[in-house]
Amino acid sequence: MKKANLLNDLSGSQWLYWTDTLYLTNFPPDATHHLRKKHGAMKPPELMAEIISFFTKKNELVLDPFAGVGGTLIGAALAGRRGIGFELNPRWVEIYRQIQNEYIVHNGVIIPKEQGRGQPIAAPLYQGHCLALMKQLEAGSVDAVITDPPYGCQHRVTGFSGETNFNMFNPDTPLDFANVPDFAAFLGLMEEFGREAWRLLKAKRYLIMIVGDRYVDGEFLPLGFLVAERLRQVGFKLKGIRLWSNKATQRPLRPYAVYTSFVPNITHQNILILKKDA
Ligand SMILES: C[S@@+](CC[C@H](N)C(=O)[O-])C[C@H]1O[C@@H](n2cnc3c(N)ncnc32)[C@H](O)[C@@H]1O
Repeated sequence: MKKANLLNDLSGSQWLYWTDTLYLTNFPPDATHHLRKKHGAMKPPELMAEIISFFTKKNELVLDPFAGVGGTLIGAALAGRRGIGFELNPRWVEIYRQIQNEYIVHNGVIIPKEQGRGQPIAAPLYQGHCLALMKQLEAGSVDAVITDPPYGCQHRVTGFSGETNFNMFNPDTPLDFANVPDFAAFLGLMEEFGREAWRLLKAKRYLIMIVGDRYVDGEFLPLGFLVAERLRQVGFKLKGIRLWSNKATQRPLRPYAVYTSFVPNITHQNILILKKDA
């Protein structure tokens, strides 16, 4: 007899394929890329749709508390899930709302509204501090928290154009997780965030965090691992890490310290898979 699928709508072989710890994708820029690229650290909606499709069933609710220009929320529309997002920077909220006004999902692809019929990108994105906004949601009301926070303090993002992009900062507000003075403070905030995520999630459901590792002051900083450790302190069980790299948008390797010392070109990001196993 076929076992009931308690988590998602995938077949057994689709499930199995998705458990590979190496996660190489080749997503080309989509129709909304020219708008989303103004944010230096946006994620492909197709990636987010795959993650959402693993950790939820159709019509379930996904929360992204660090939503940026809406990679997860657009991914929720692609996957046929409901979504809700929070984002501190009004500029990113405005770009997402423009995308909502101008694009729809048609046969699993984002297209401009005037090119056909389809489903709207319906998930609301609210502007504000995620820790405050999460407190307004009801306990146990969310099926999955899937998000991509800033990667530590004073993170500088180099865009695909090769230019350093400071736009993702909210330089004037201490509420931005990236504006904390050091990594210890950042990890403290991650723990606070984890407690709220725990409260909002239903039992047996997942918190998925995309976290990049860093190279700081001549040393590798395994930020993904450190964040996962903090979330374990809150009660989450770490179920695995997938190493994600999008080949289509990978920047060329840089010749850091050649002939002198090993310095990694960090071309992957960690997808931390944490479960409220309670
Ligand atoms: C790595 S980006 C997320 C990008 C997103 N996945 C996308 O596809 O656009 C992290 C986001 O967290 C936001 N952020 C930082 N601190 C925040 C806070 N306290 N509350 C809400 N958003 C915050 C930043 O403005 C930034 O847009």
